[in-house]
Amino acid sequence: MYIKSLRLSHYRNYQELQVSFQPNINVIVGKNAQGKTNLIEALYYLSLCRSFRTSQDQALIQNGEEYADLVCWLKEEKQESYLRCILHEKGKSLFIGKTNISKTSEFIGRLNVVLFSPEDIYIFSQAPRARRKFMDQELMKLSKKYLFHLTRYNTLLKERNVLLKKASIDETMLDILDKQMVTSEVEILKRRSSFLKFINQEIERLFQSLSGMKLRLQVVMNNGIEVDKIDEEILLKAHLFSRQKDIEYHITNVGIHRGDIQFRLADNDILLSASQGQKRLVMIAFKLAILHYIEFISKRKAVVLLDDVLSELDLERQKRLLDVVKNGYQCFITTTYLPDSLKLEKLNCISIQDGKVKI
Ligand SMILES: Nc1ncnc2c1ncn2[C@@H]1O[C@H](COP(=O)(O)OP(=O)(O)O)[C@@H](O)[C@H]1O
Ligand SMILES: [Mg+2]
Repeated sequence: MYIKSLRLSHYRNYQELQVSFQPNINVIVGKNAQGKTNLIEALYYLSLCRSFRTSQDQALIQNGEEYADLVCWLKEEKQESYLRCILHEKGKSLFIGKTNISKTSEFIGRLNVVLFSPEDIYIFSQAPRARRKFMDQELMKLSKKYLFHLTRYNTLLKERNVLLKKASIDETMLDILDKQMVTSEVEILKRRSSFLKFINQEIERLFQSLSGMKLRLQVVMNNGIEVDKIDEEILLKAHLFSRQKDIEYHITNVGIHRGDIQFRLADNDILLSASQGQKRLVMIAFKLAILHYIEFISKRKAVVLLDDVLSELDLERQKRLLDVVKNGYQCFITTTYLPDSLKLEKLNCISIQDGKVKI
């Protein structure tokens, strides 16, 4: 599947834009603050119904306008369709073709994208919540079942924490909630662990071929719950084991809401020993492994969005990254100038100036 074209109205610094793409490499060239990332953000929004730069949808509407209208046309084999999102002051309206979609979850995942951005590496030093959220988002867009169990678990967790804050604790109610929670927990843990198993089969090879360094790289999971086997009975015991502490602290101390992933380069936590350059390559290898995972699960290739990533790499690494992504993926690459690594490629080059395509 690939994105054939995009139309933006009253979106960020685009008053009106209509632009066509090709199925392989599309380069968006322009000086700073011209709208390159805005364009990538629009494609990302049409995939996930949220921006990677702001949680405020209103910020996407062009200053002084009342709504923004984003449409992309998709082509898959002989089939064509389009995704449309209208943002207005009351929220958003979503369409797949002419059909109005009321559930965001039905819209998400029609178009799958993987974004590579220089800011990605901050996730290594952020709180566990950020890494967990990142993993959950990847898994949610690929599995409605995952989304269902995660939502259900979070609702039950809230109820449990409310209960733990009361002056007198109803332990029978805690028993009931625990039993309900672990059924979702099992599903989530199984999916998270098969995701990481897949990533670990790929990430080291990808990192080594990008970096040329023969270092070991692994992503390890901390489940938020100390169990070596995942089944309901064992999880129930873990919750029960923590119950006195939970009552004392008025909060649920164990469970998938405490899960985290750790990146280990040469058997050390990446935060302790890796250089900035190594962190960057680990993140790129991670994203490439995710790209392969999406294909493995959905049997479709995701669209690759490289926002300002090439300029951070030397020529050799740019070439190595491009060798992986140009292999059948549609790519969007933003850059301030056309780097040497792209000069020999057959590309669709789009020059952007002040929210307009420069011809
Ligand atoms: N809601 C908005 N309305 C109008 N202009 C906007 C809006 N949001 C951002 N911009 C403008 O978009 C430009 C930044 O675009 P961006 O895509 O980040 O640039 P770059 O080409 O460097 O990636 C800035 O000039 C900014 O003022
Ligand atoms: Mg930018």
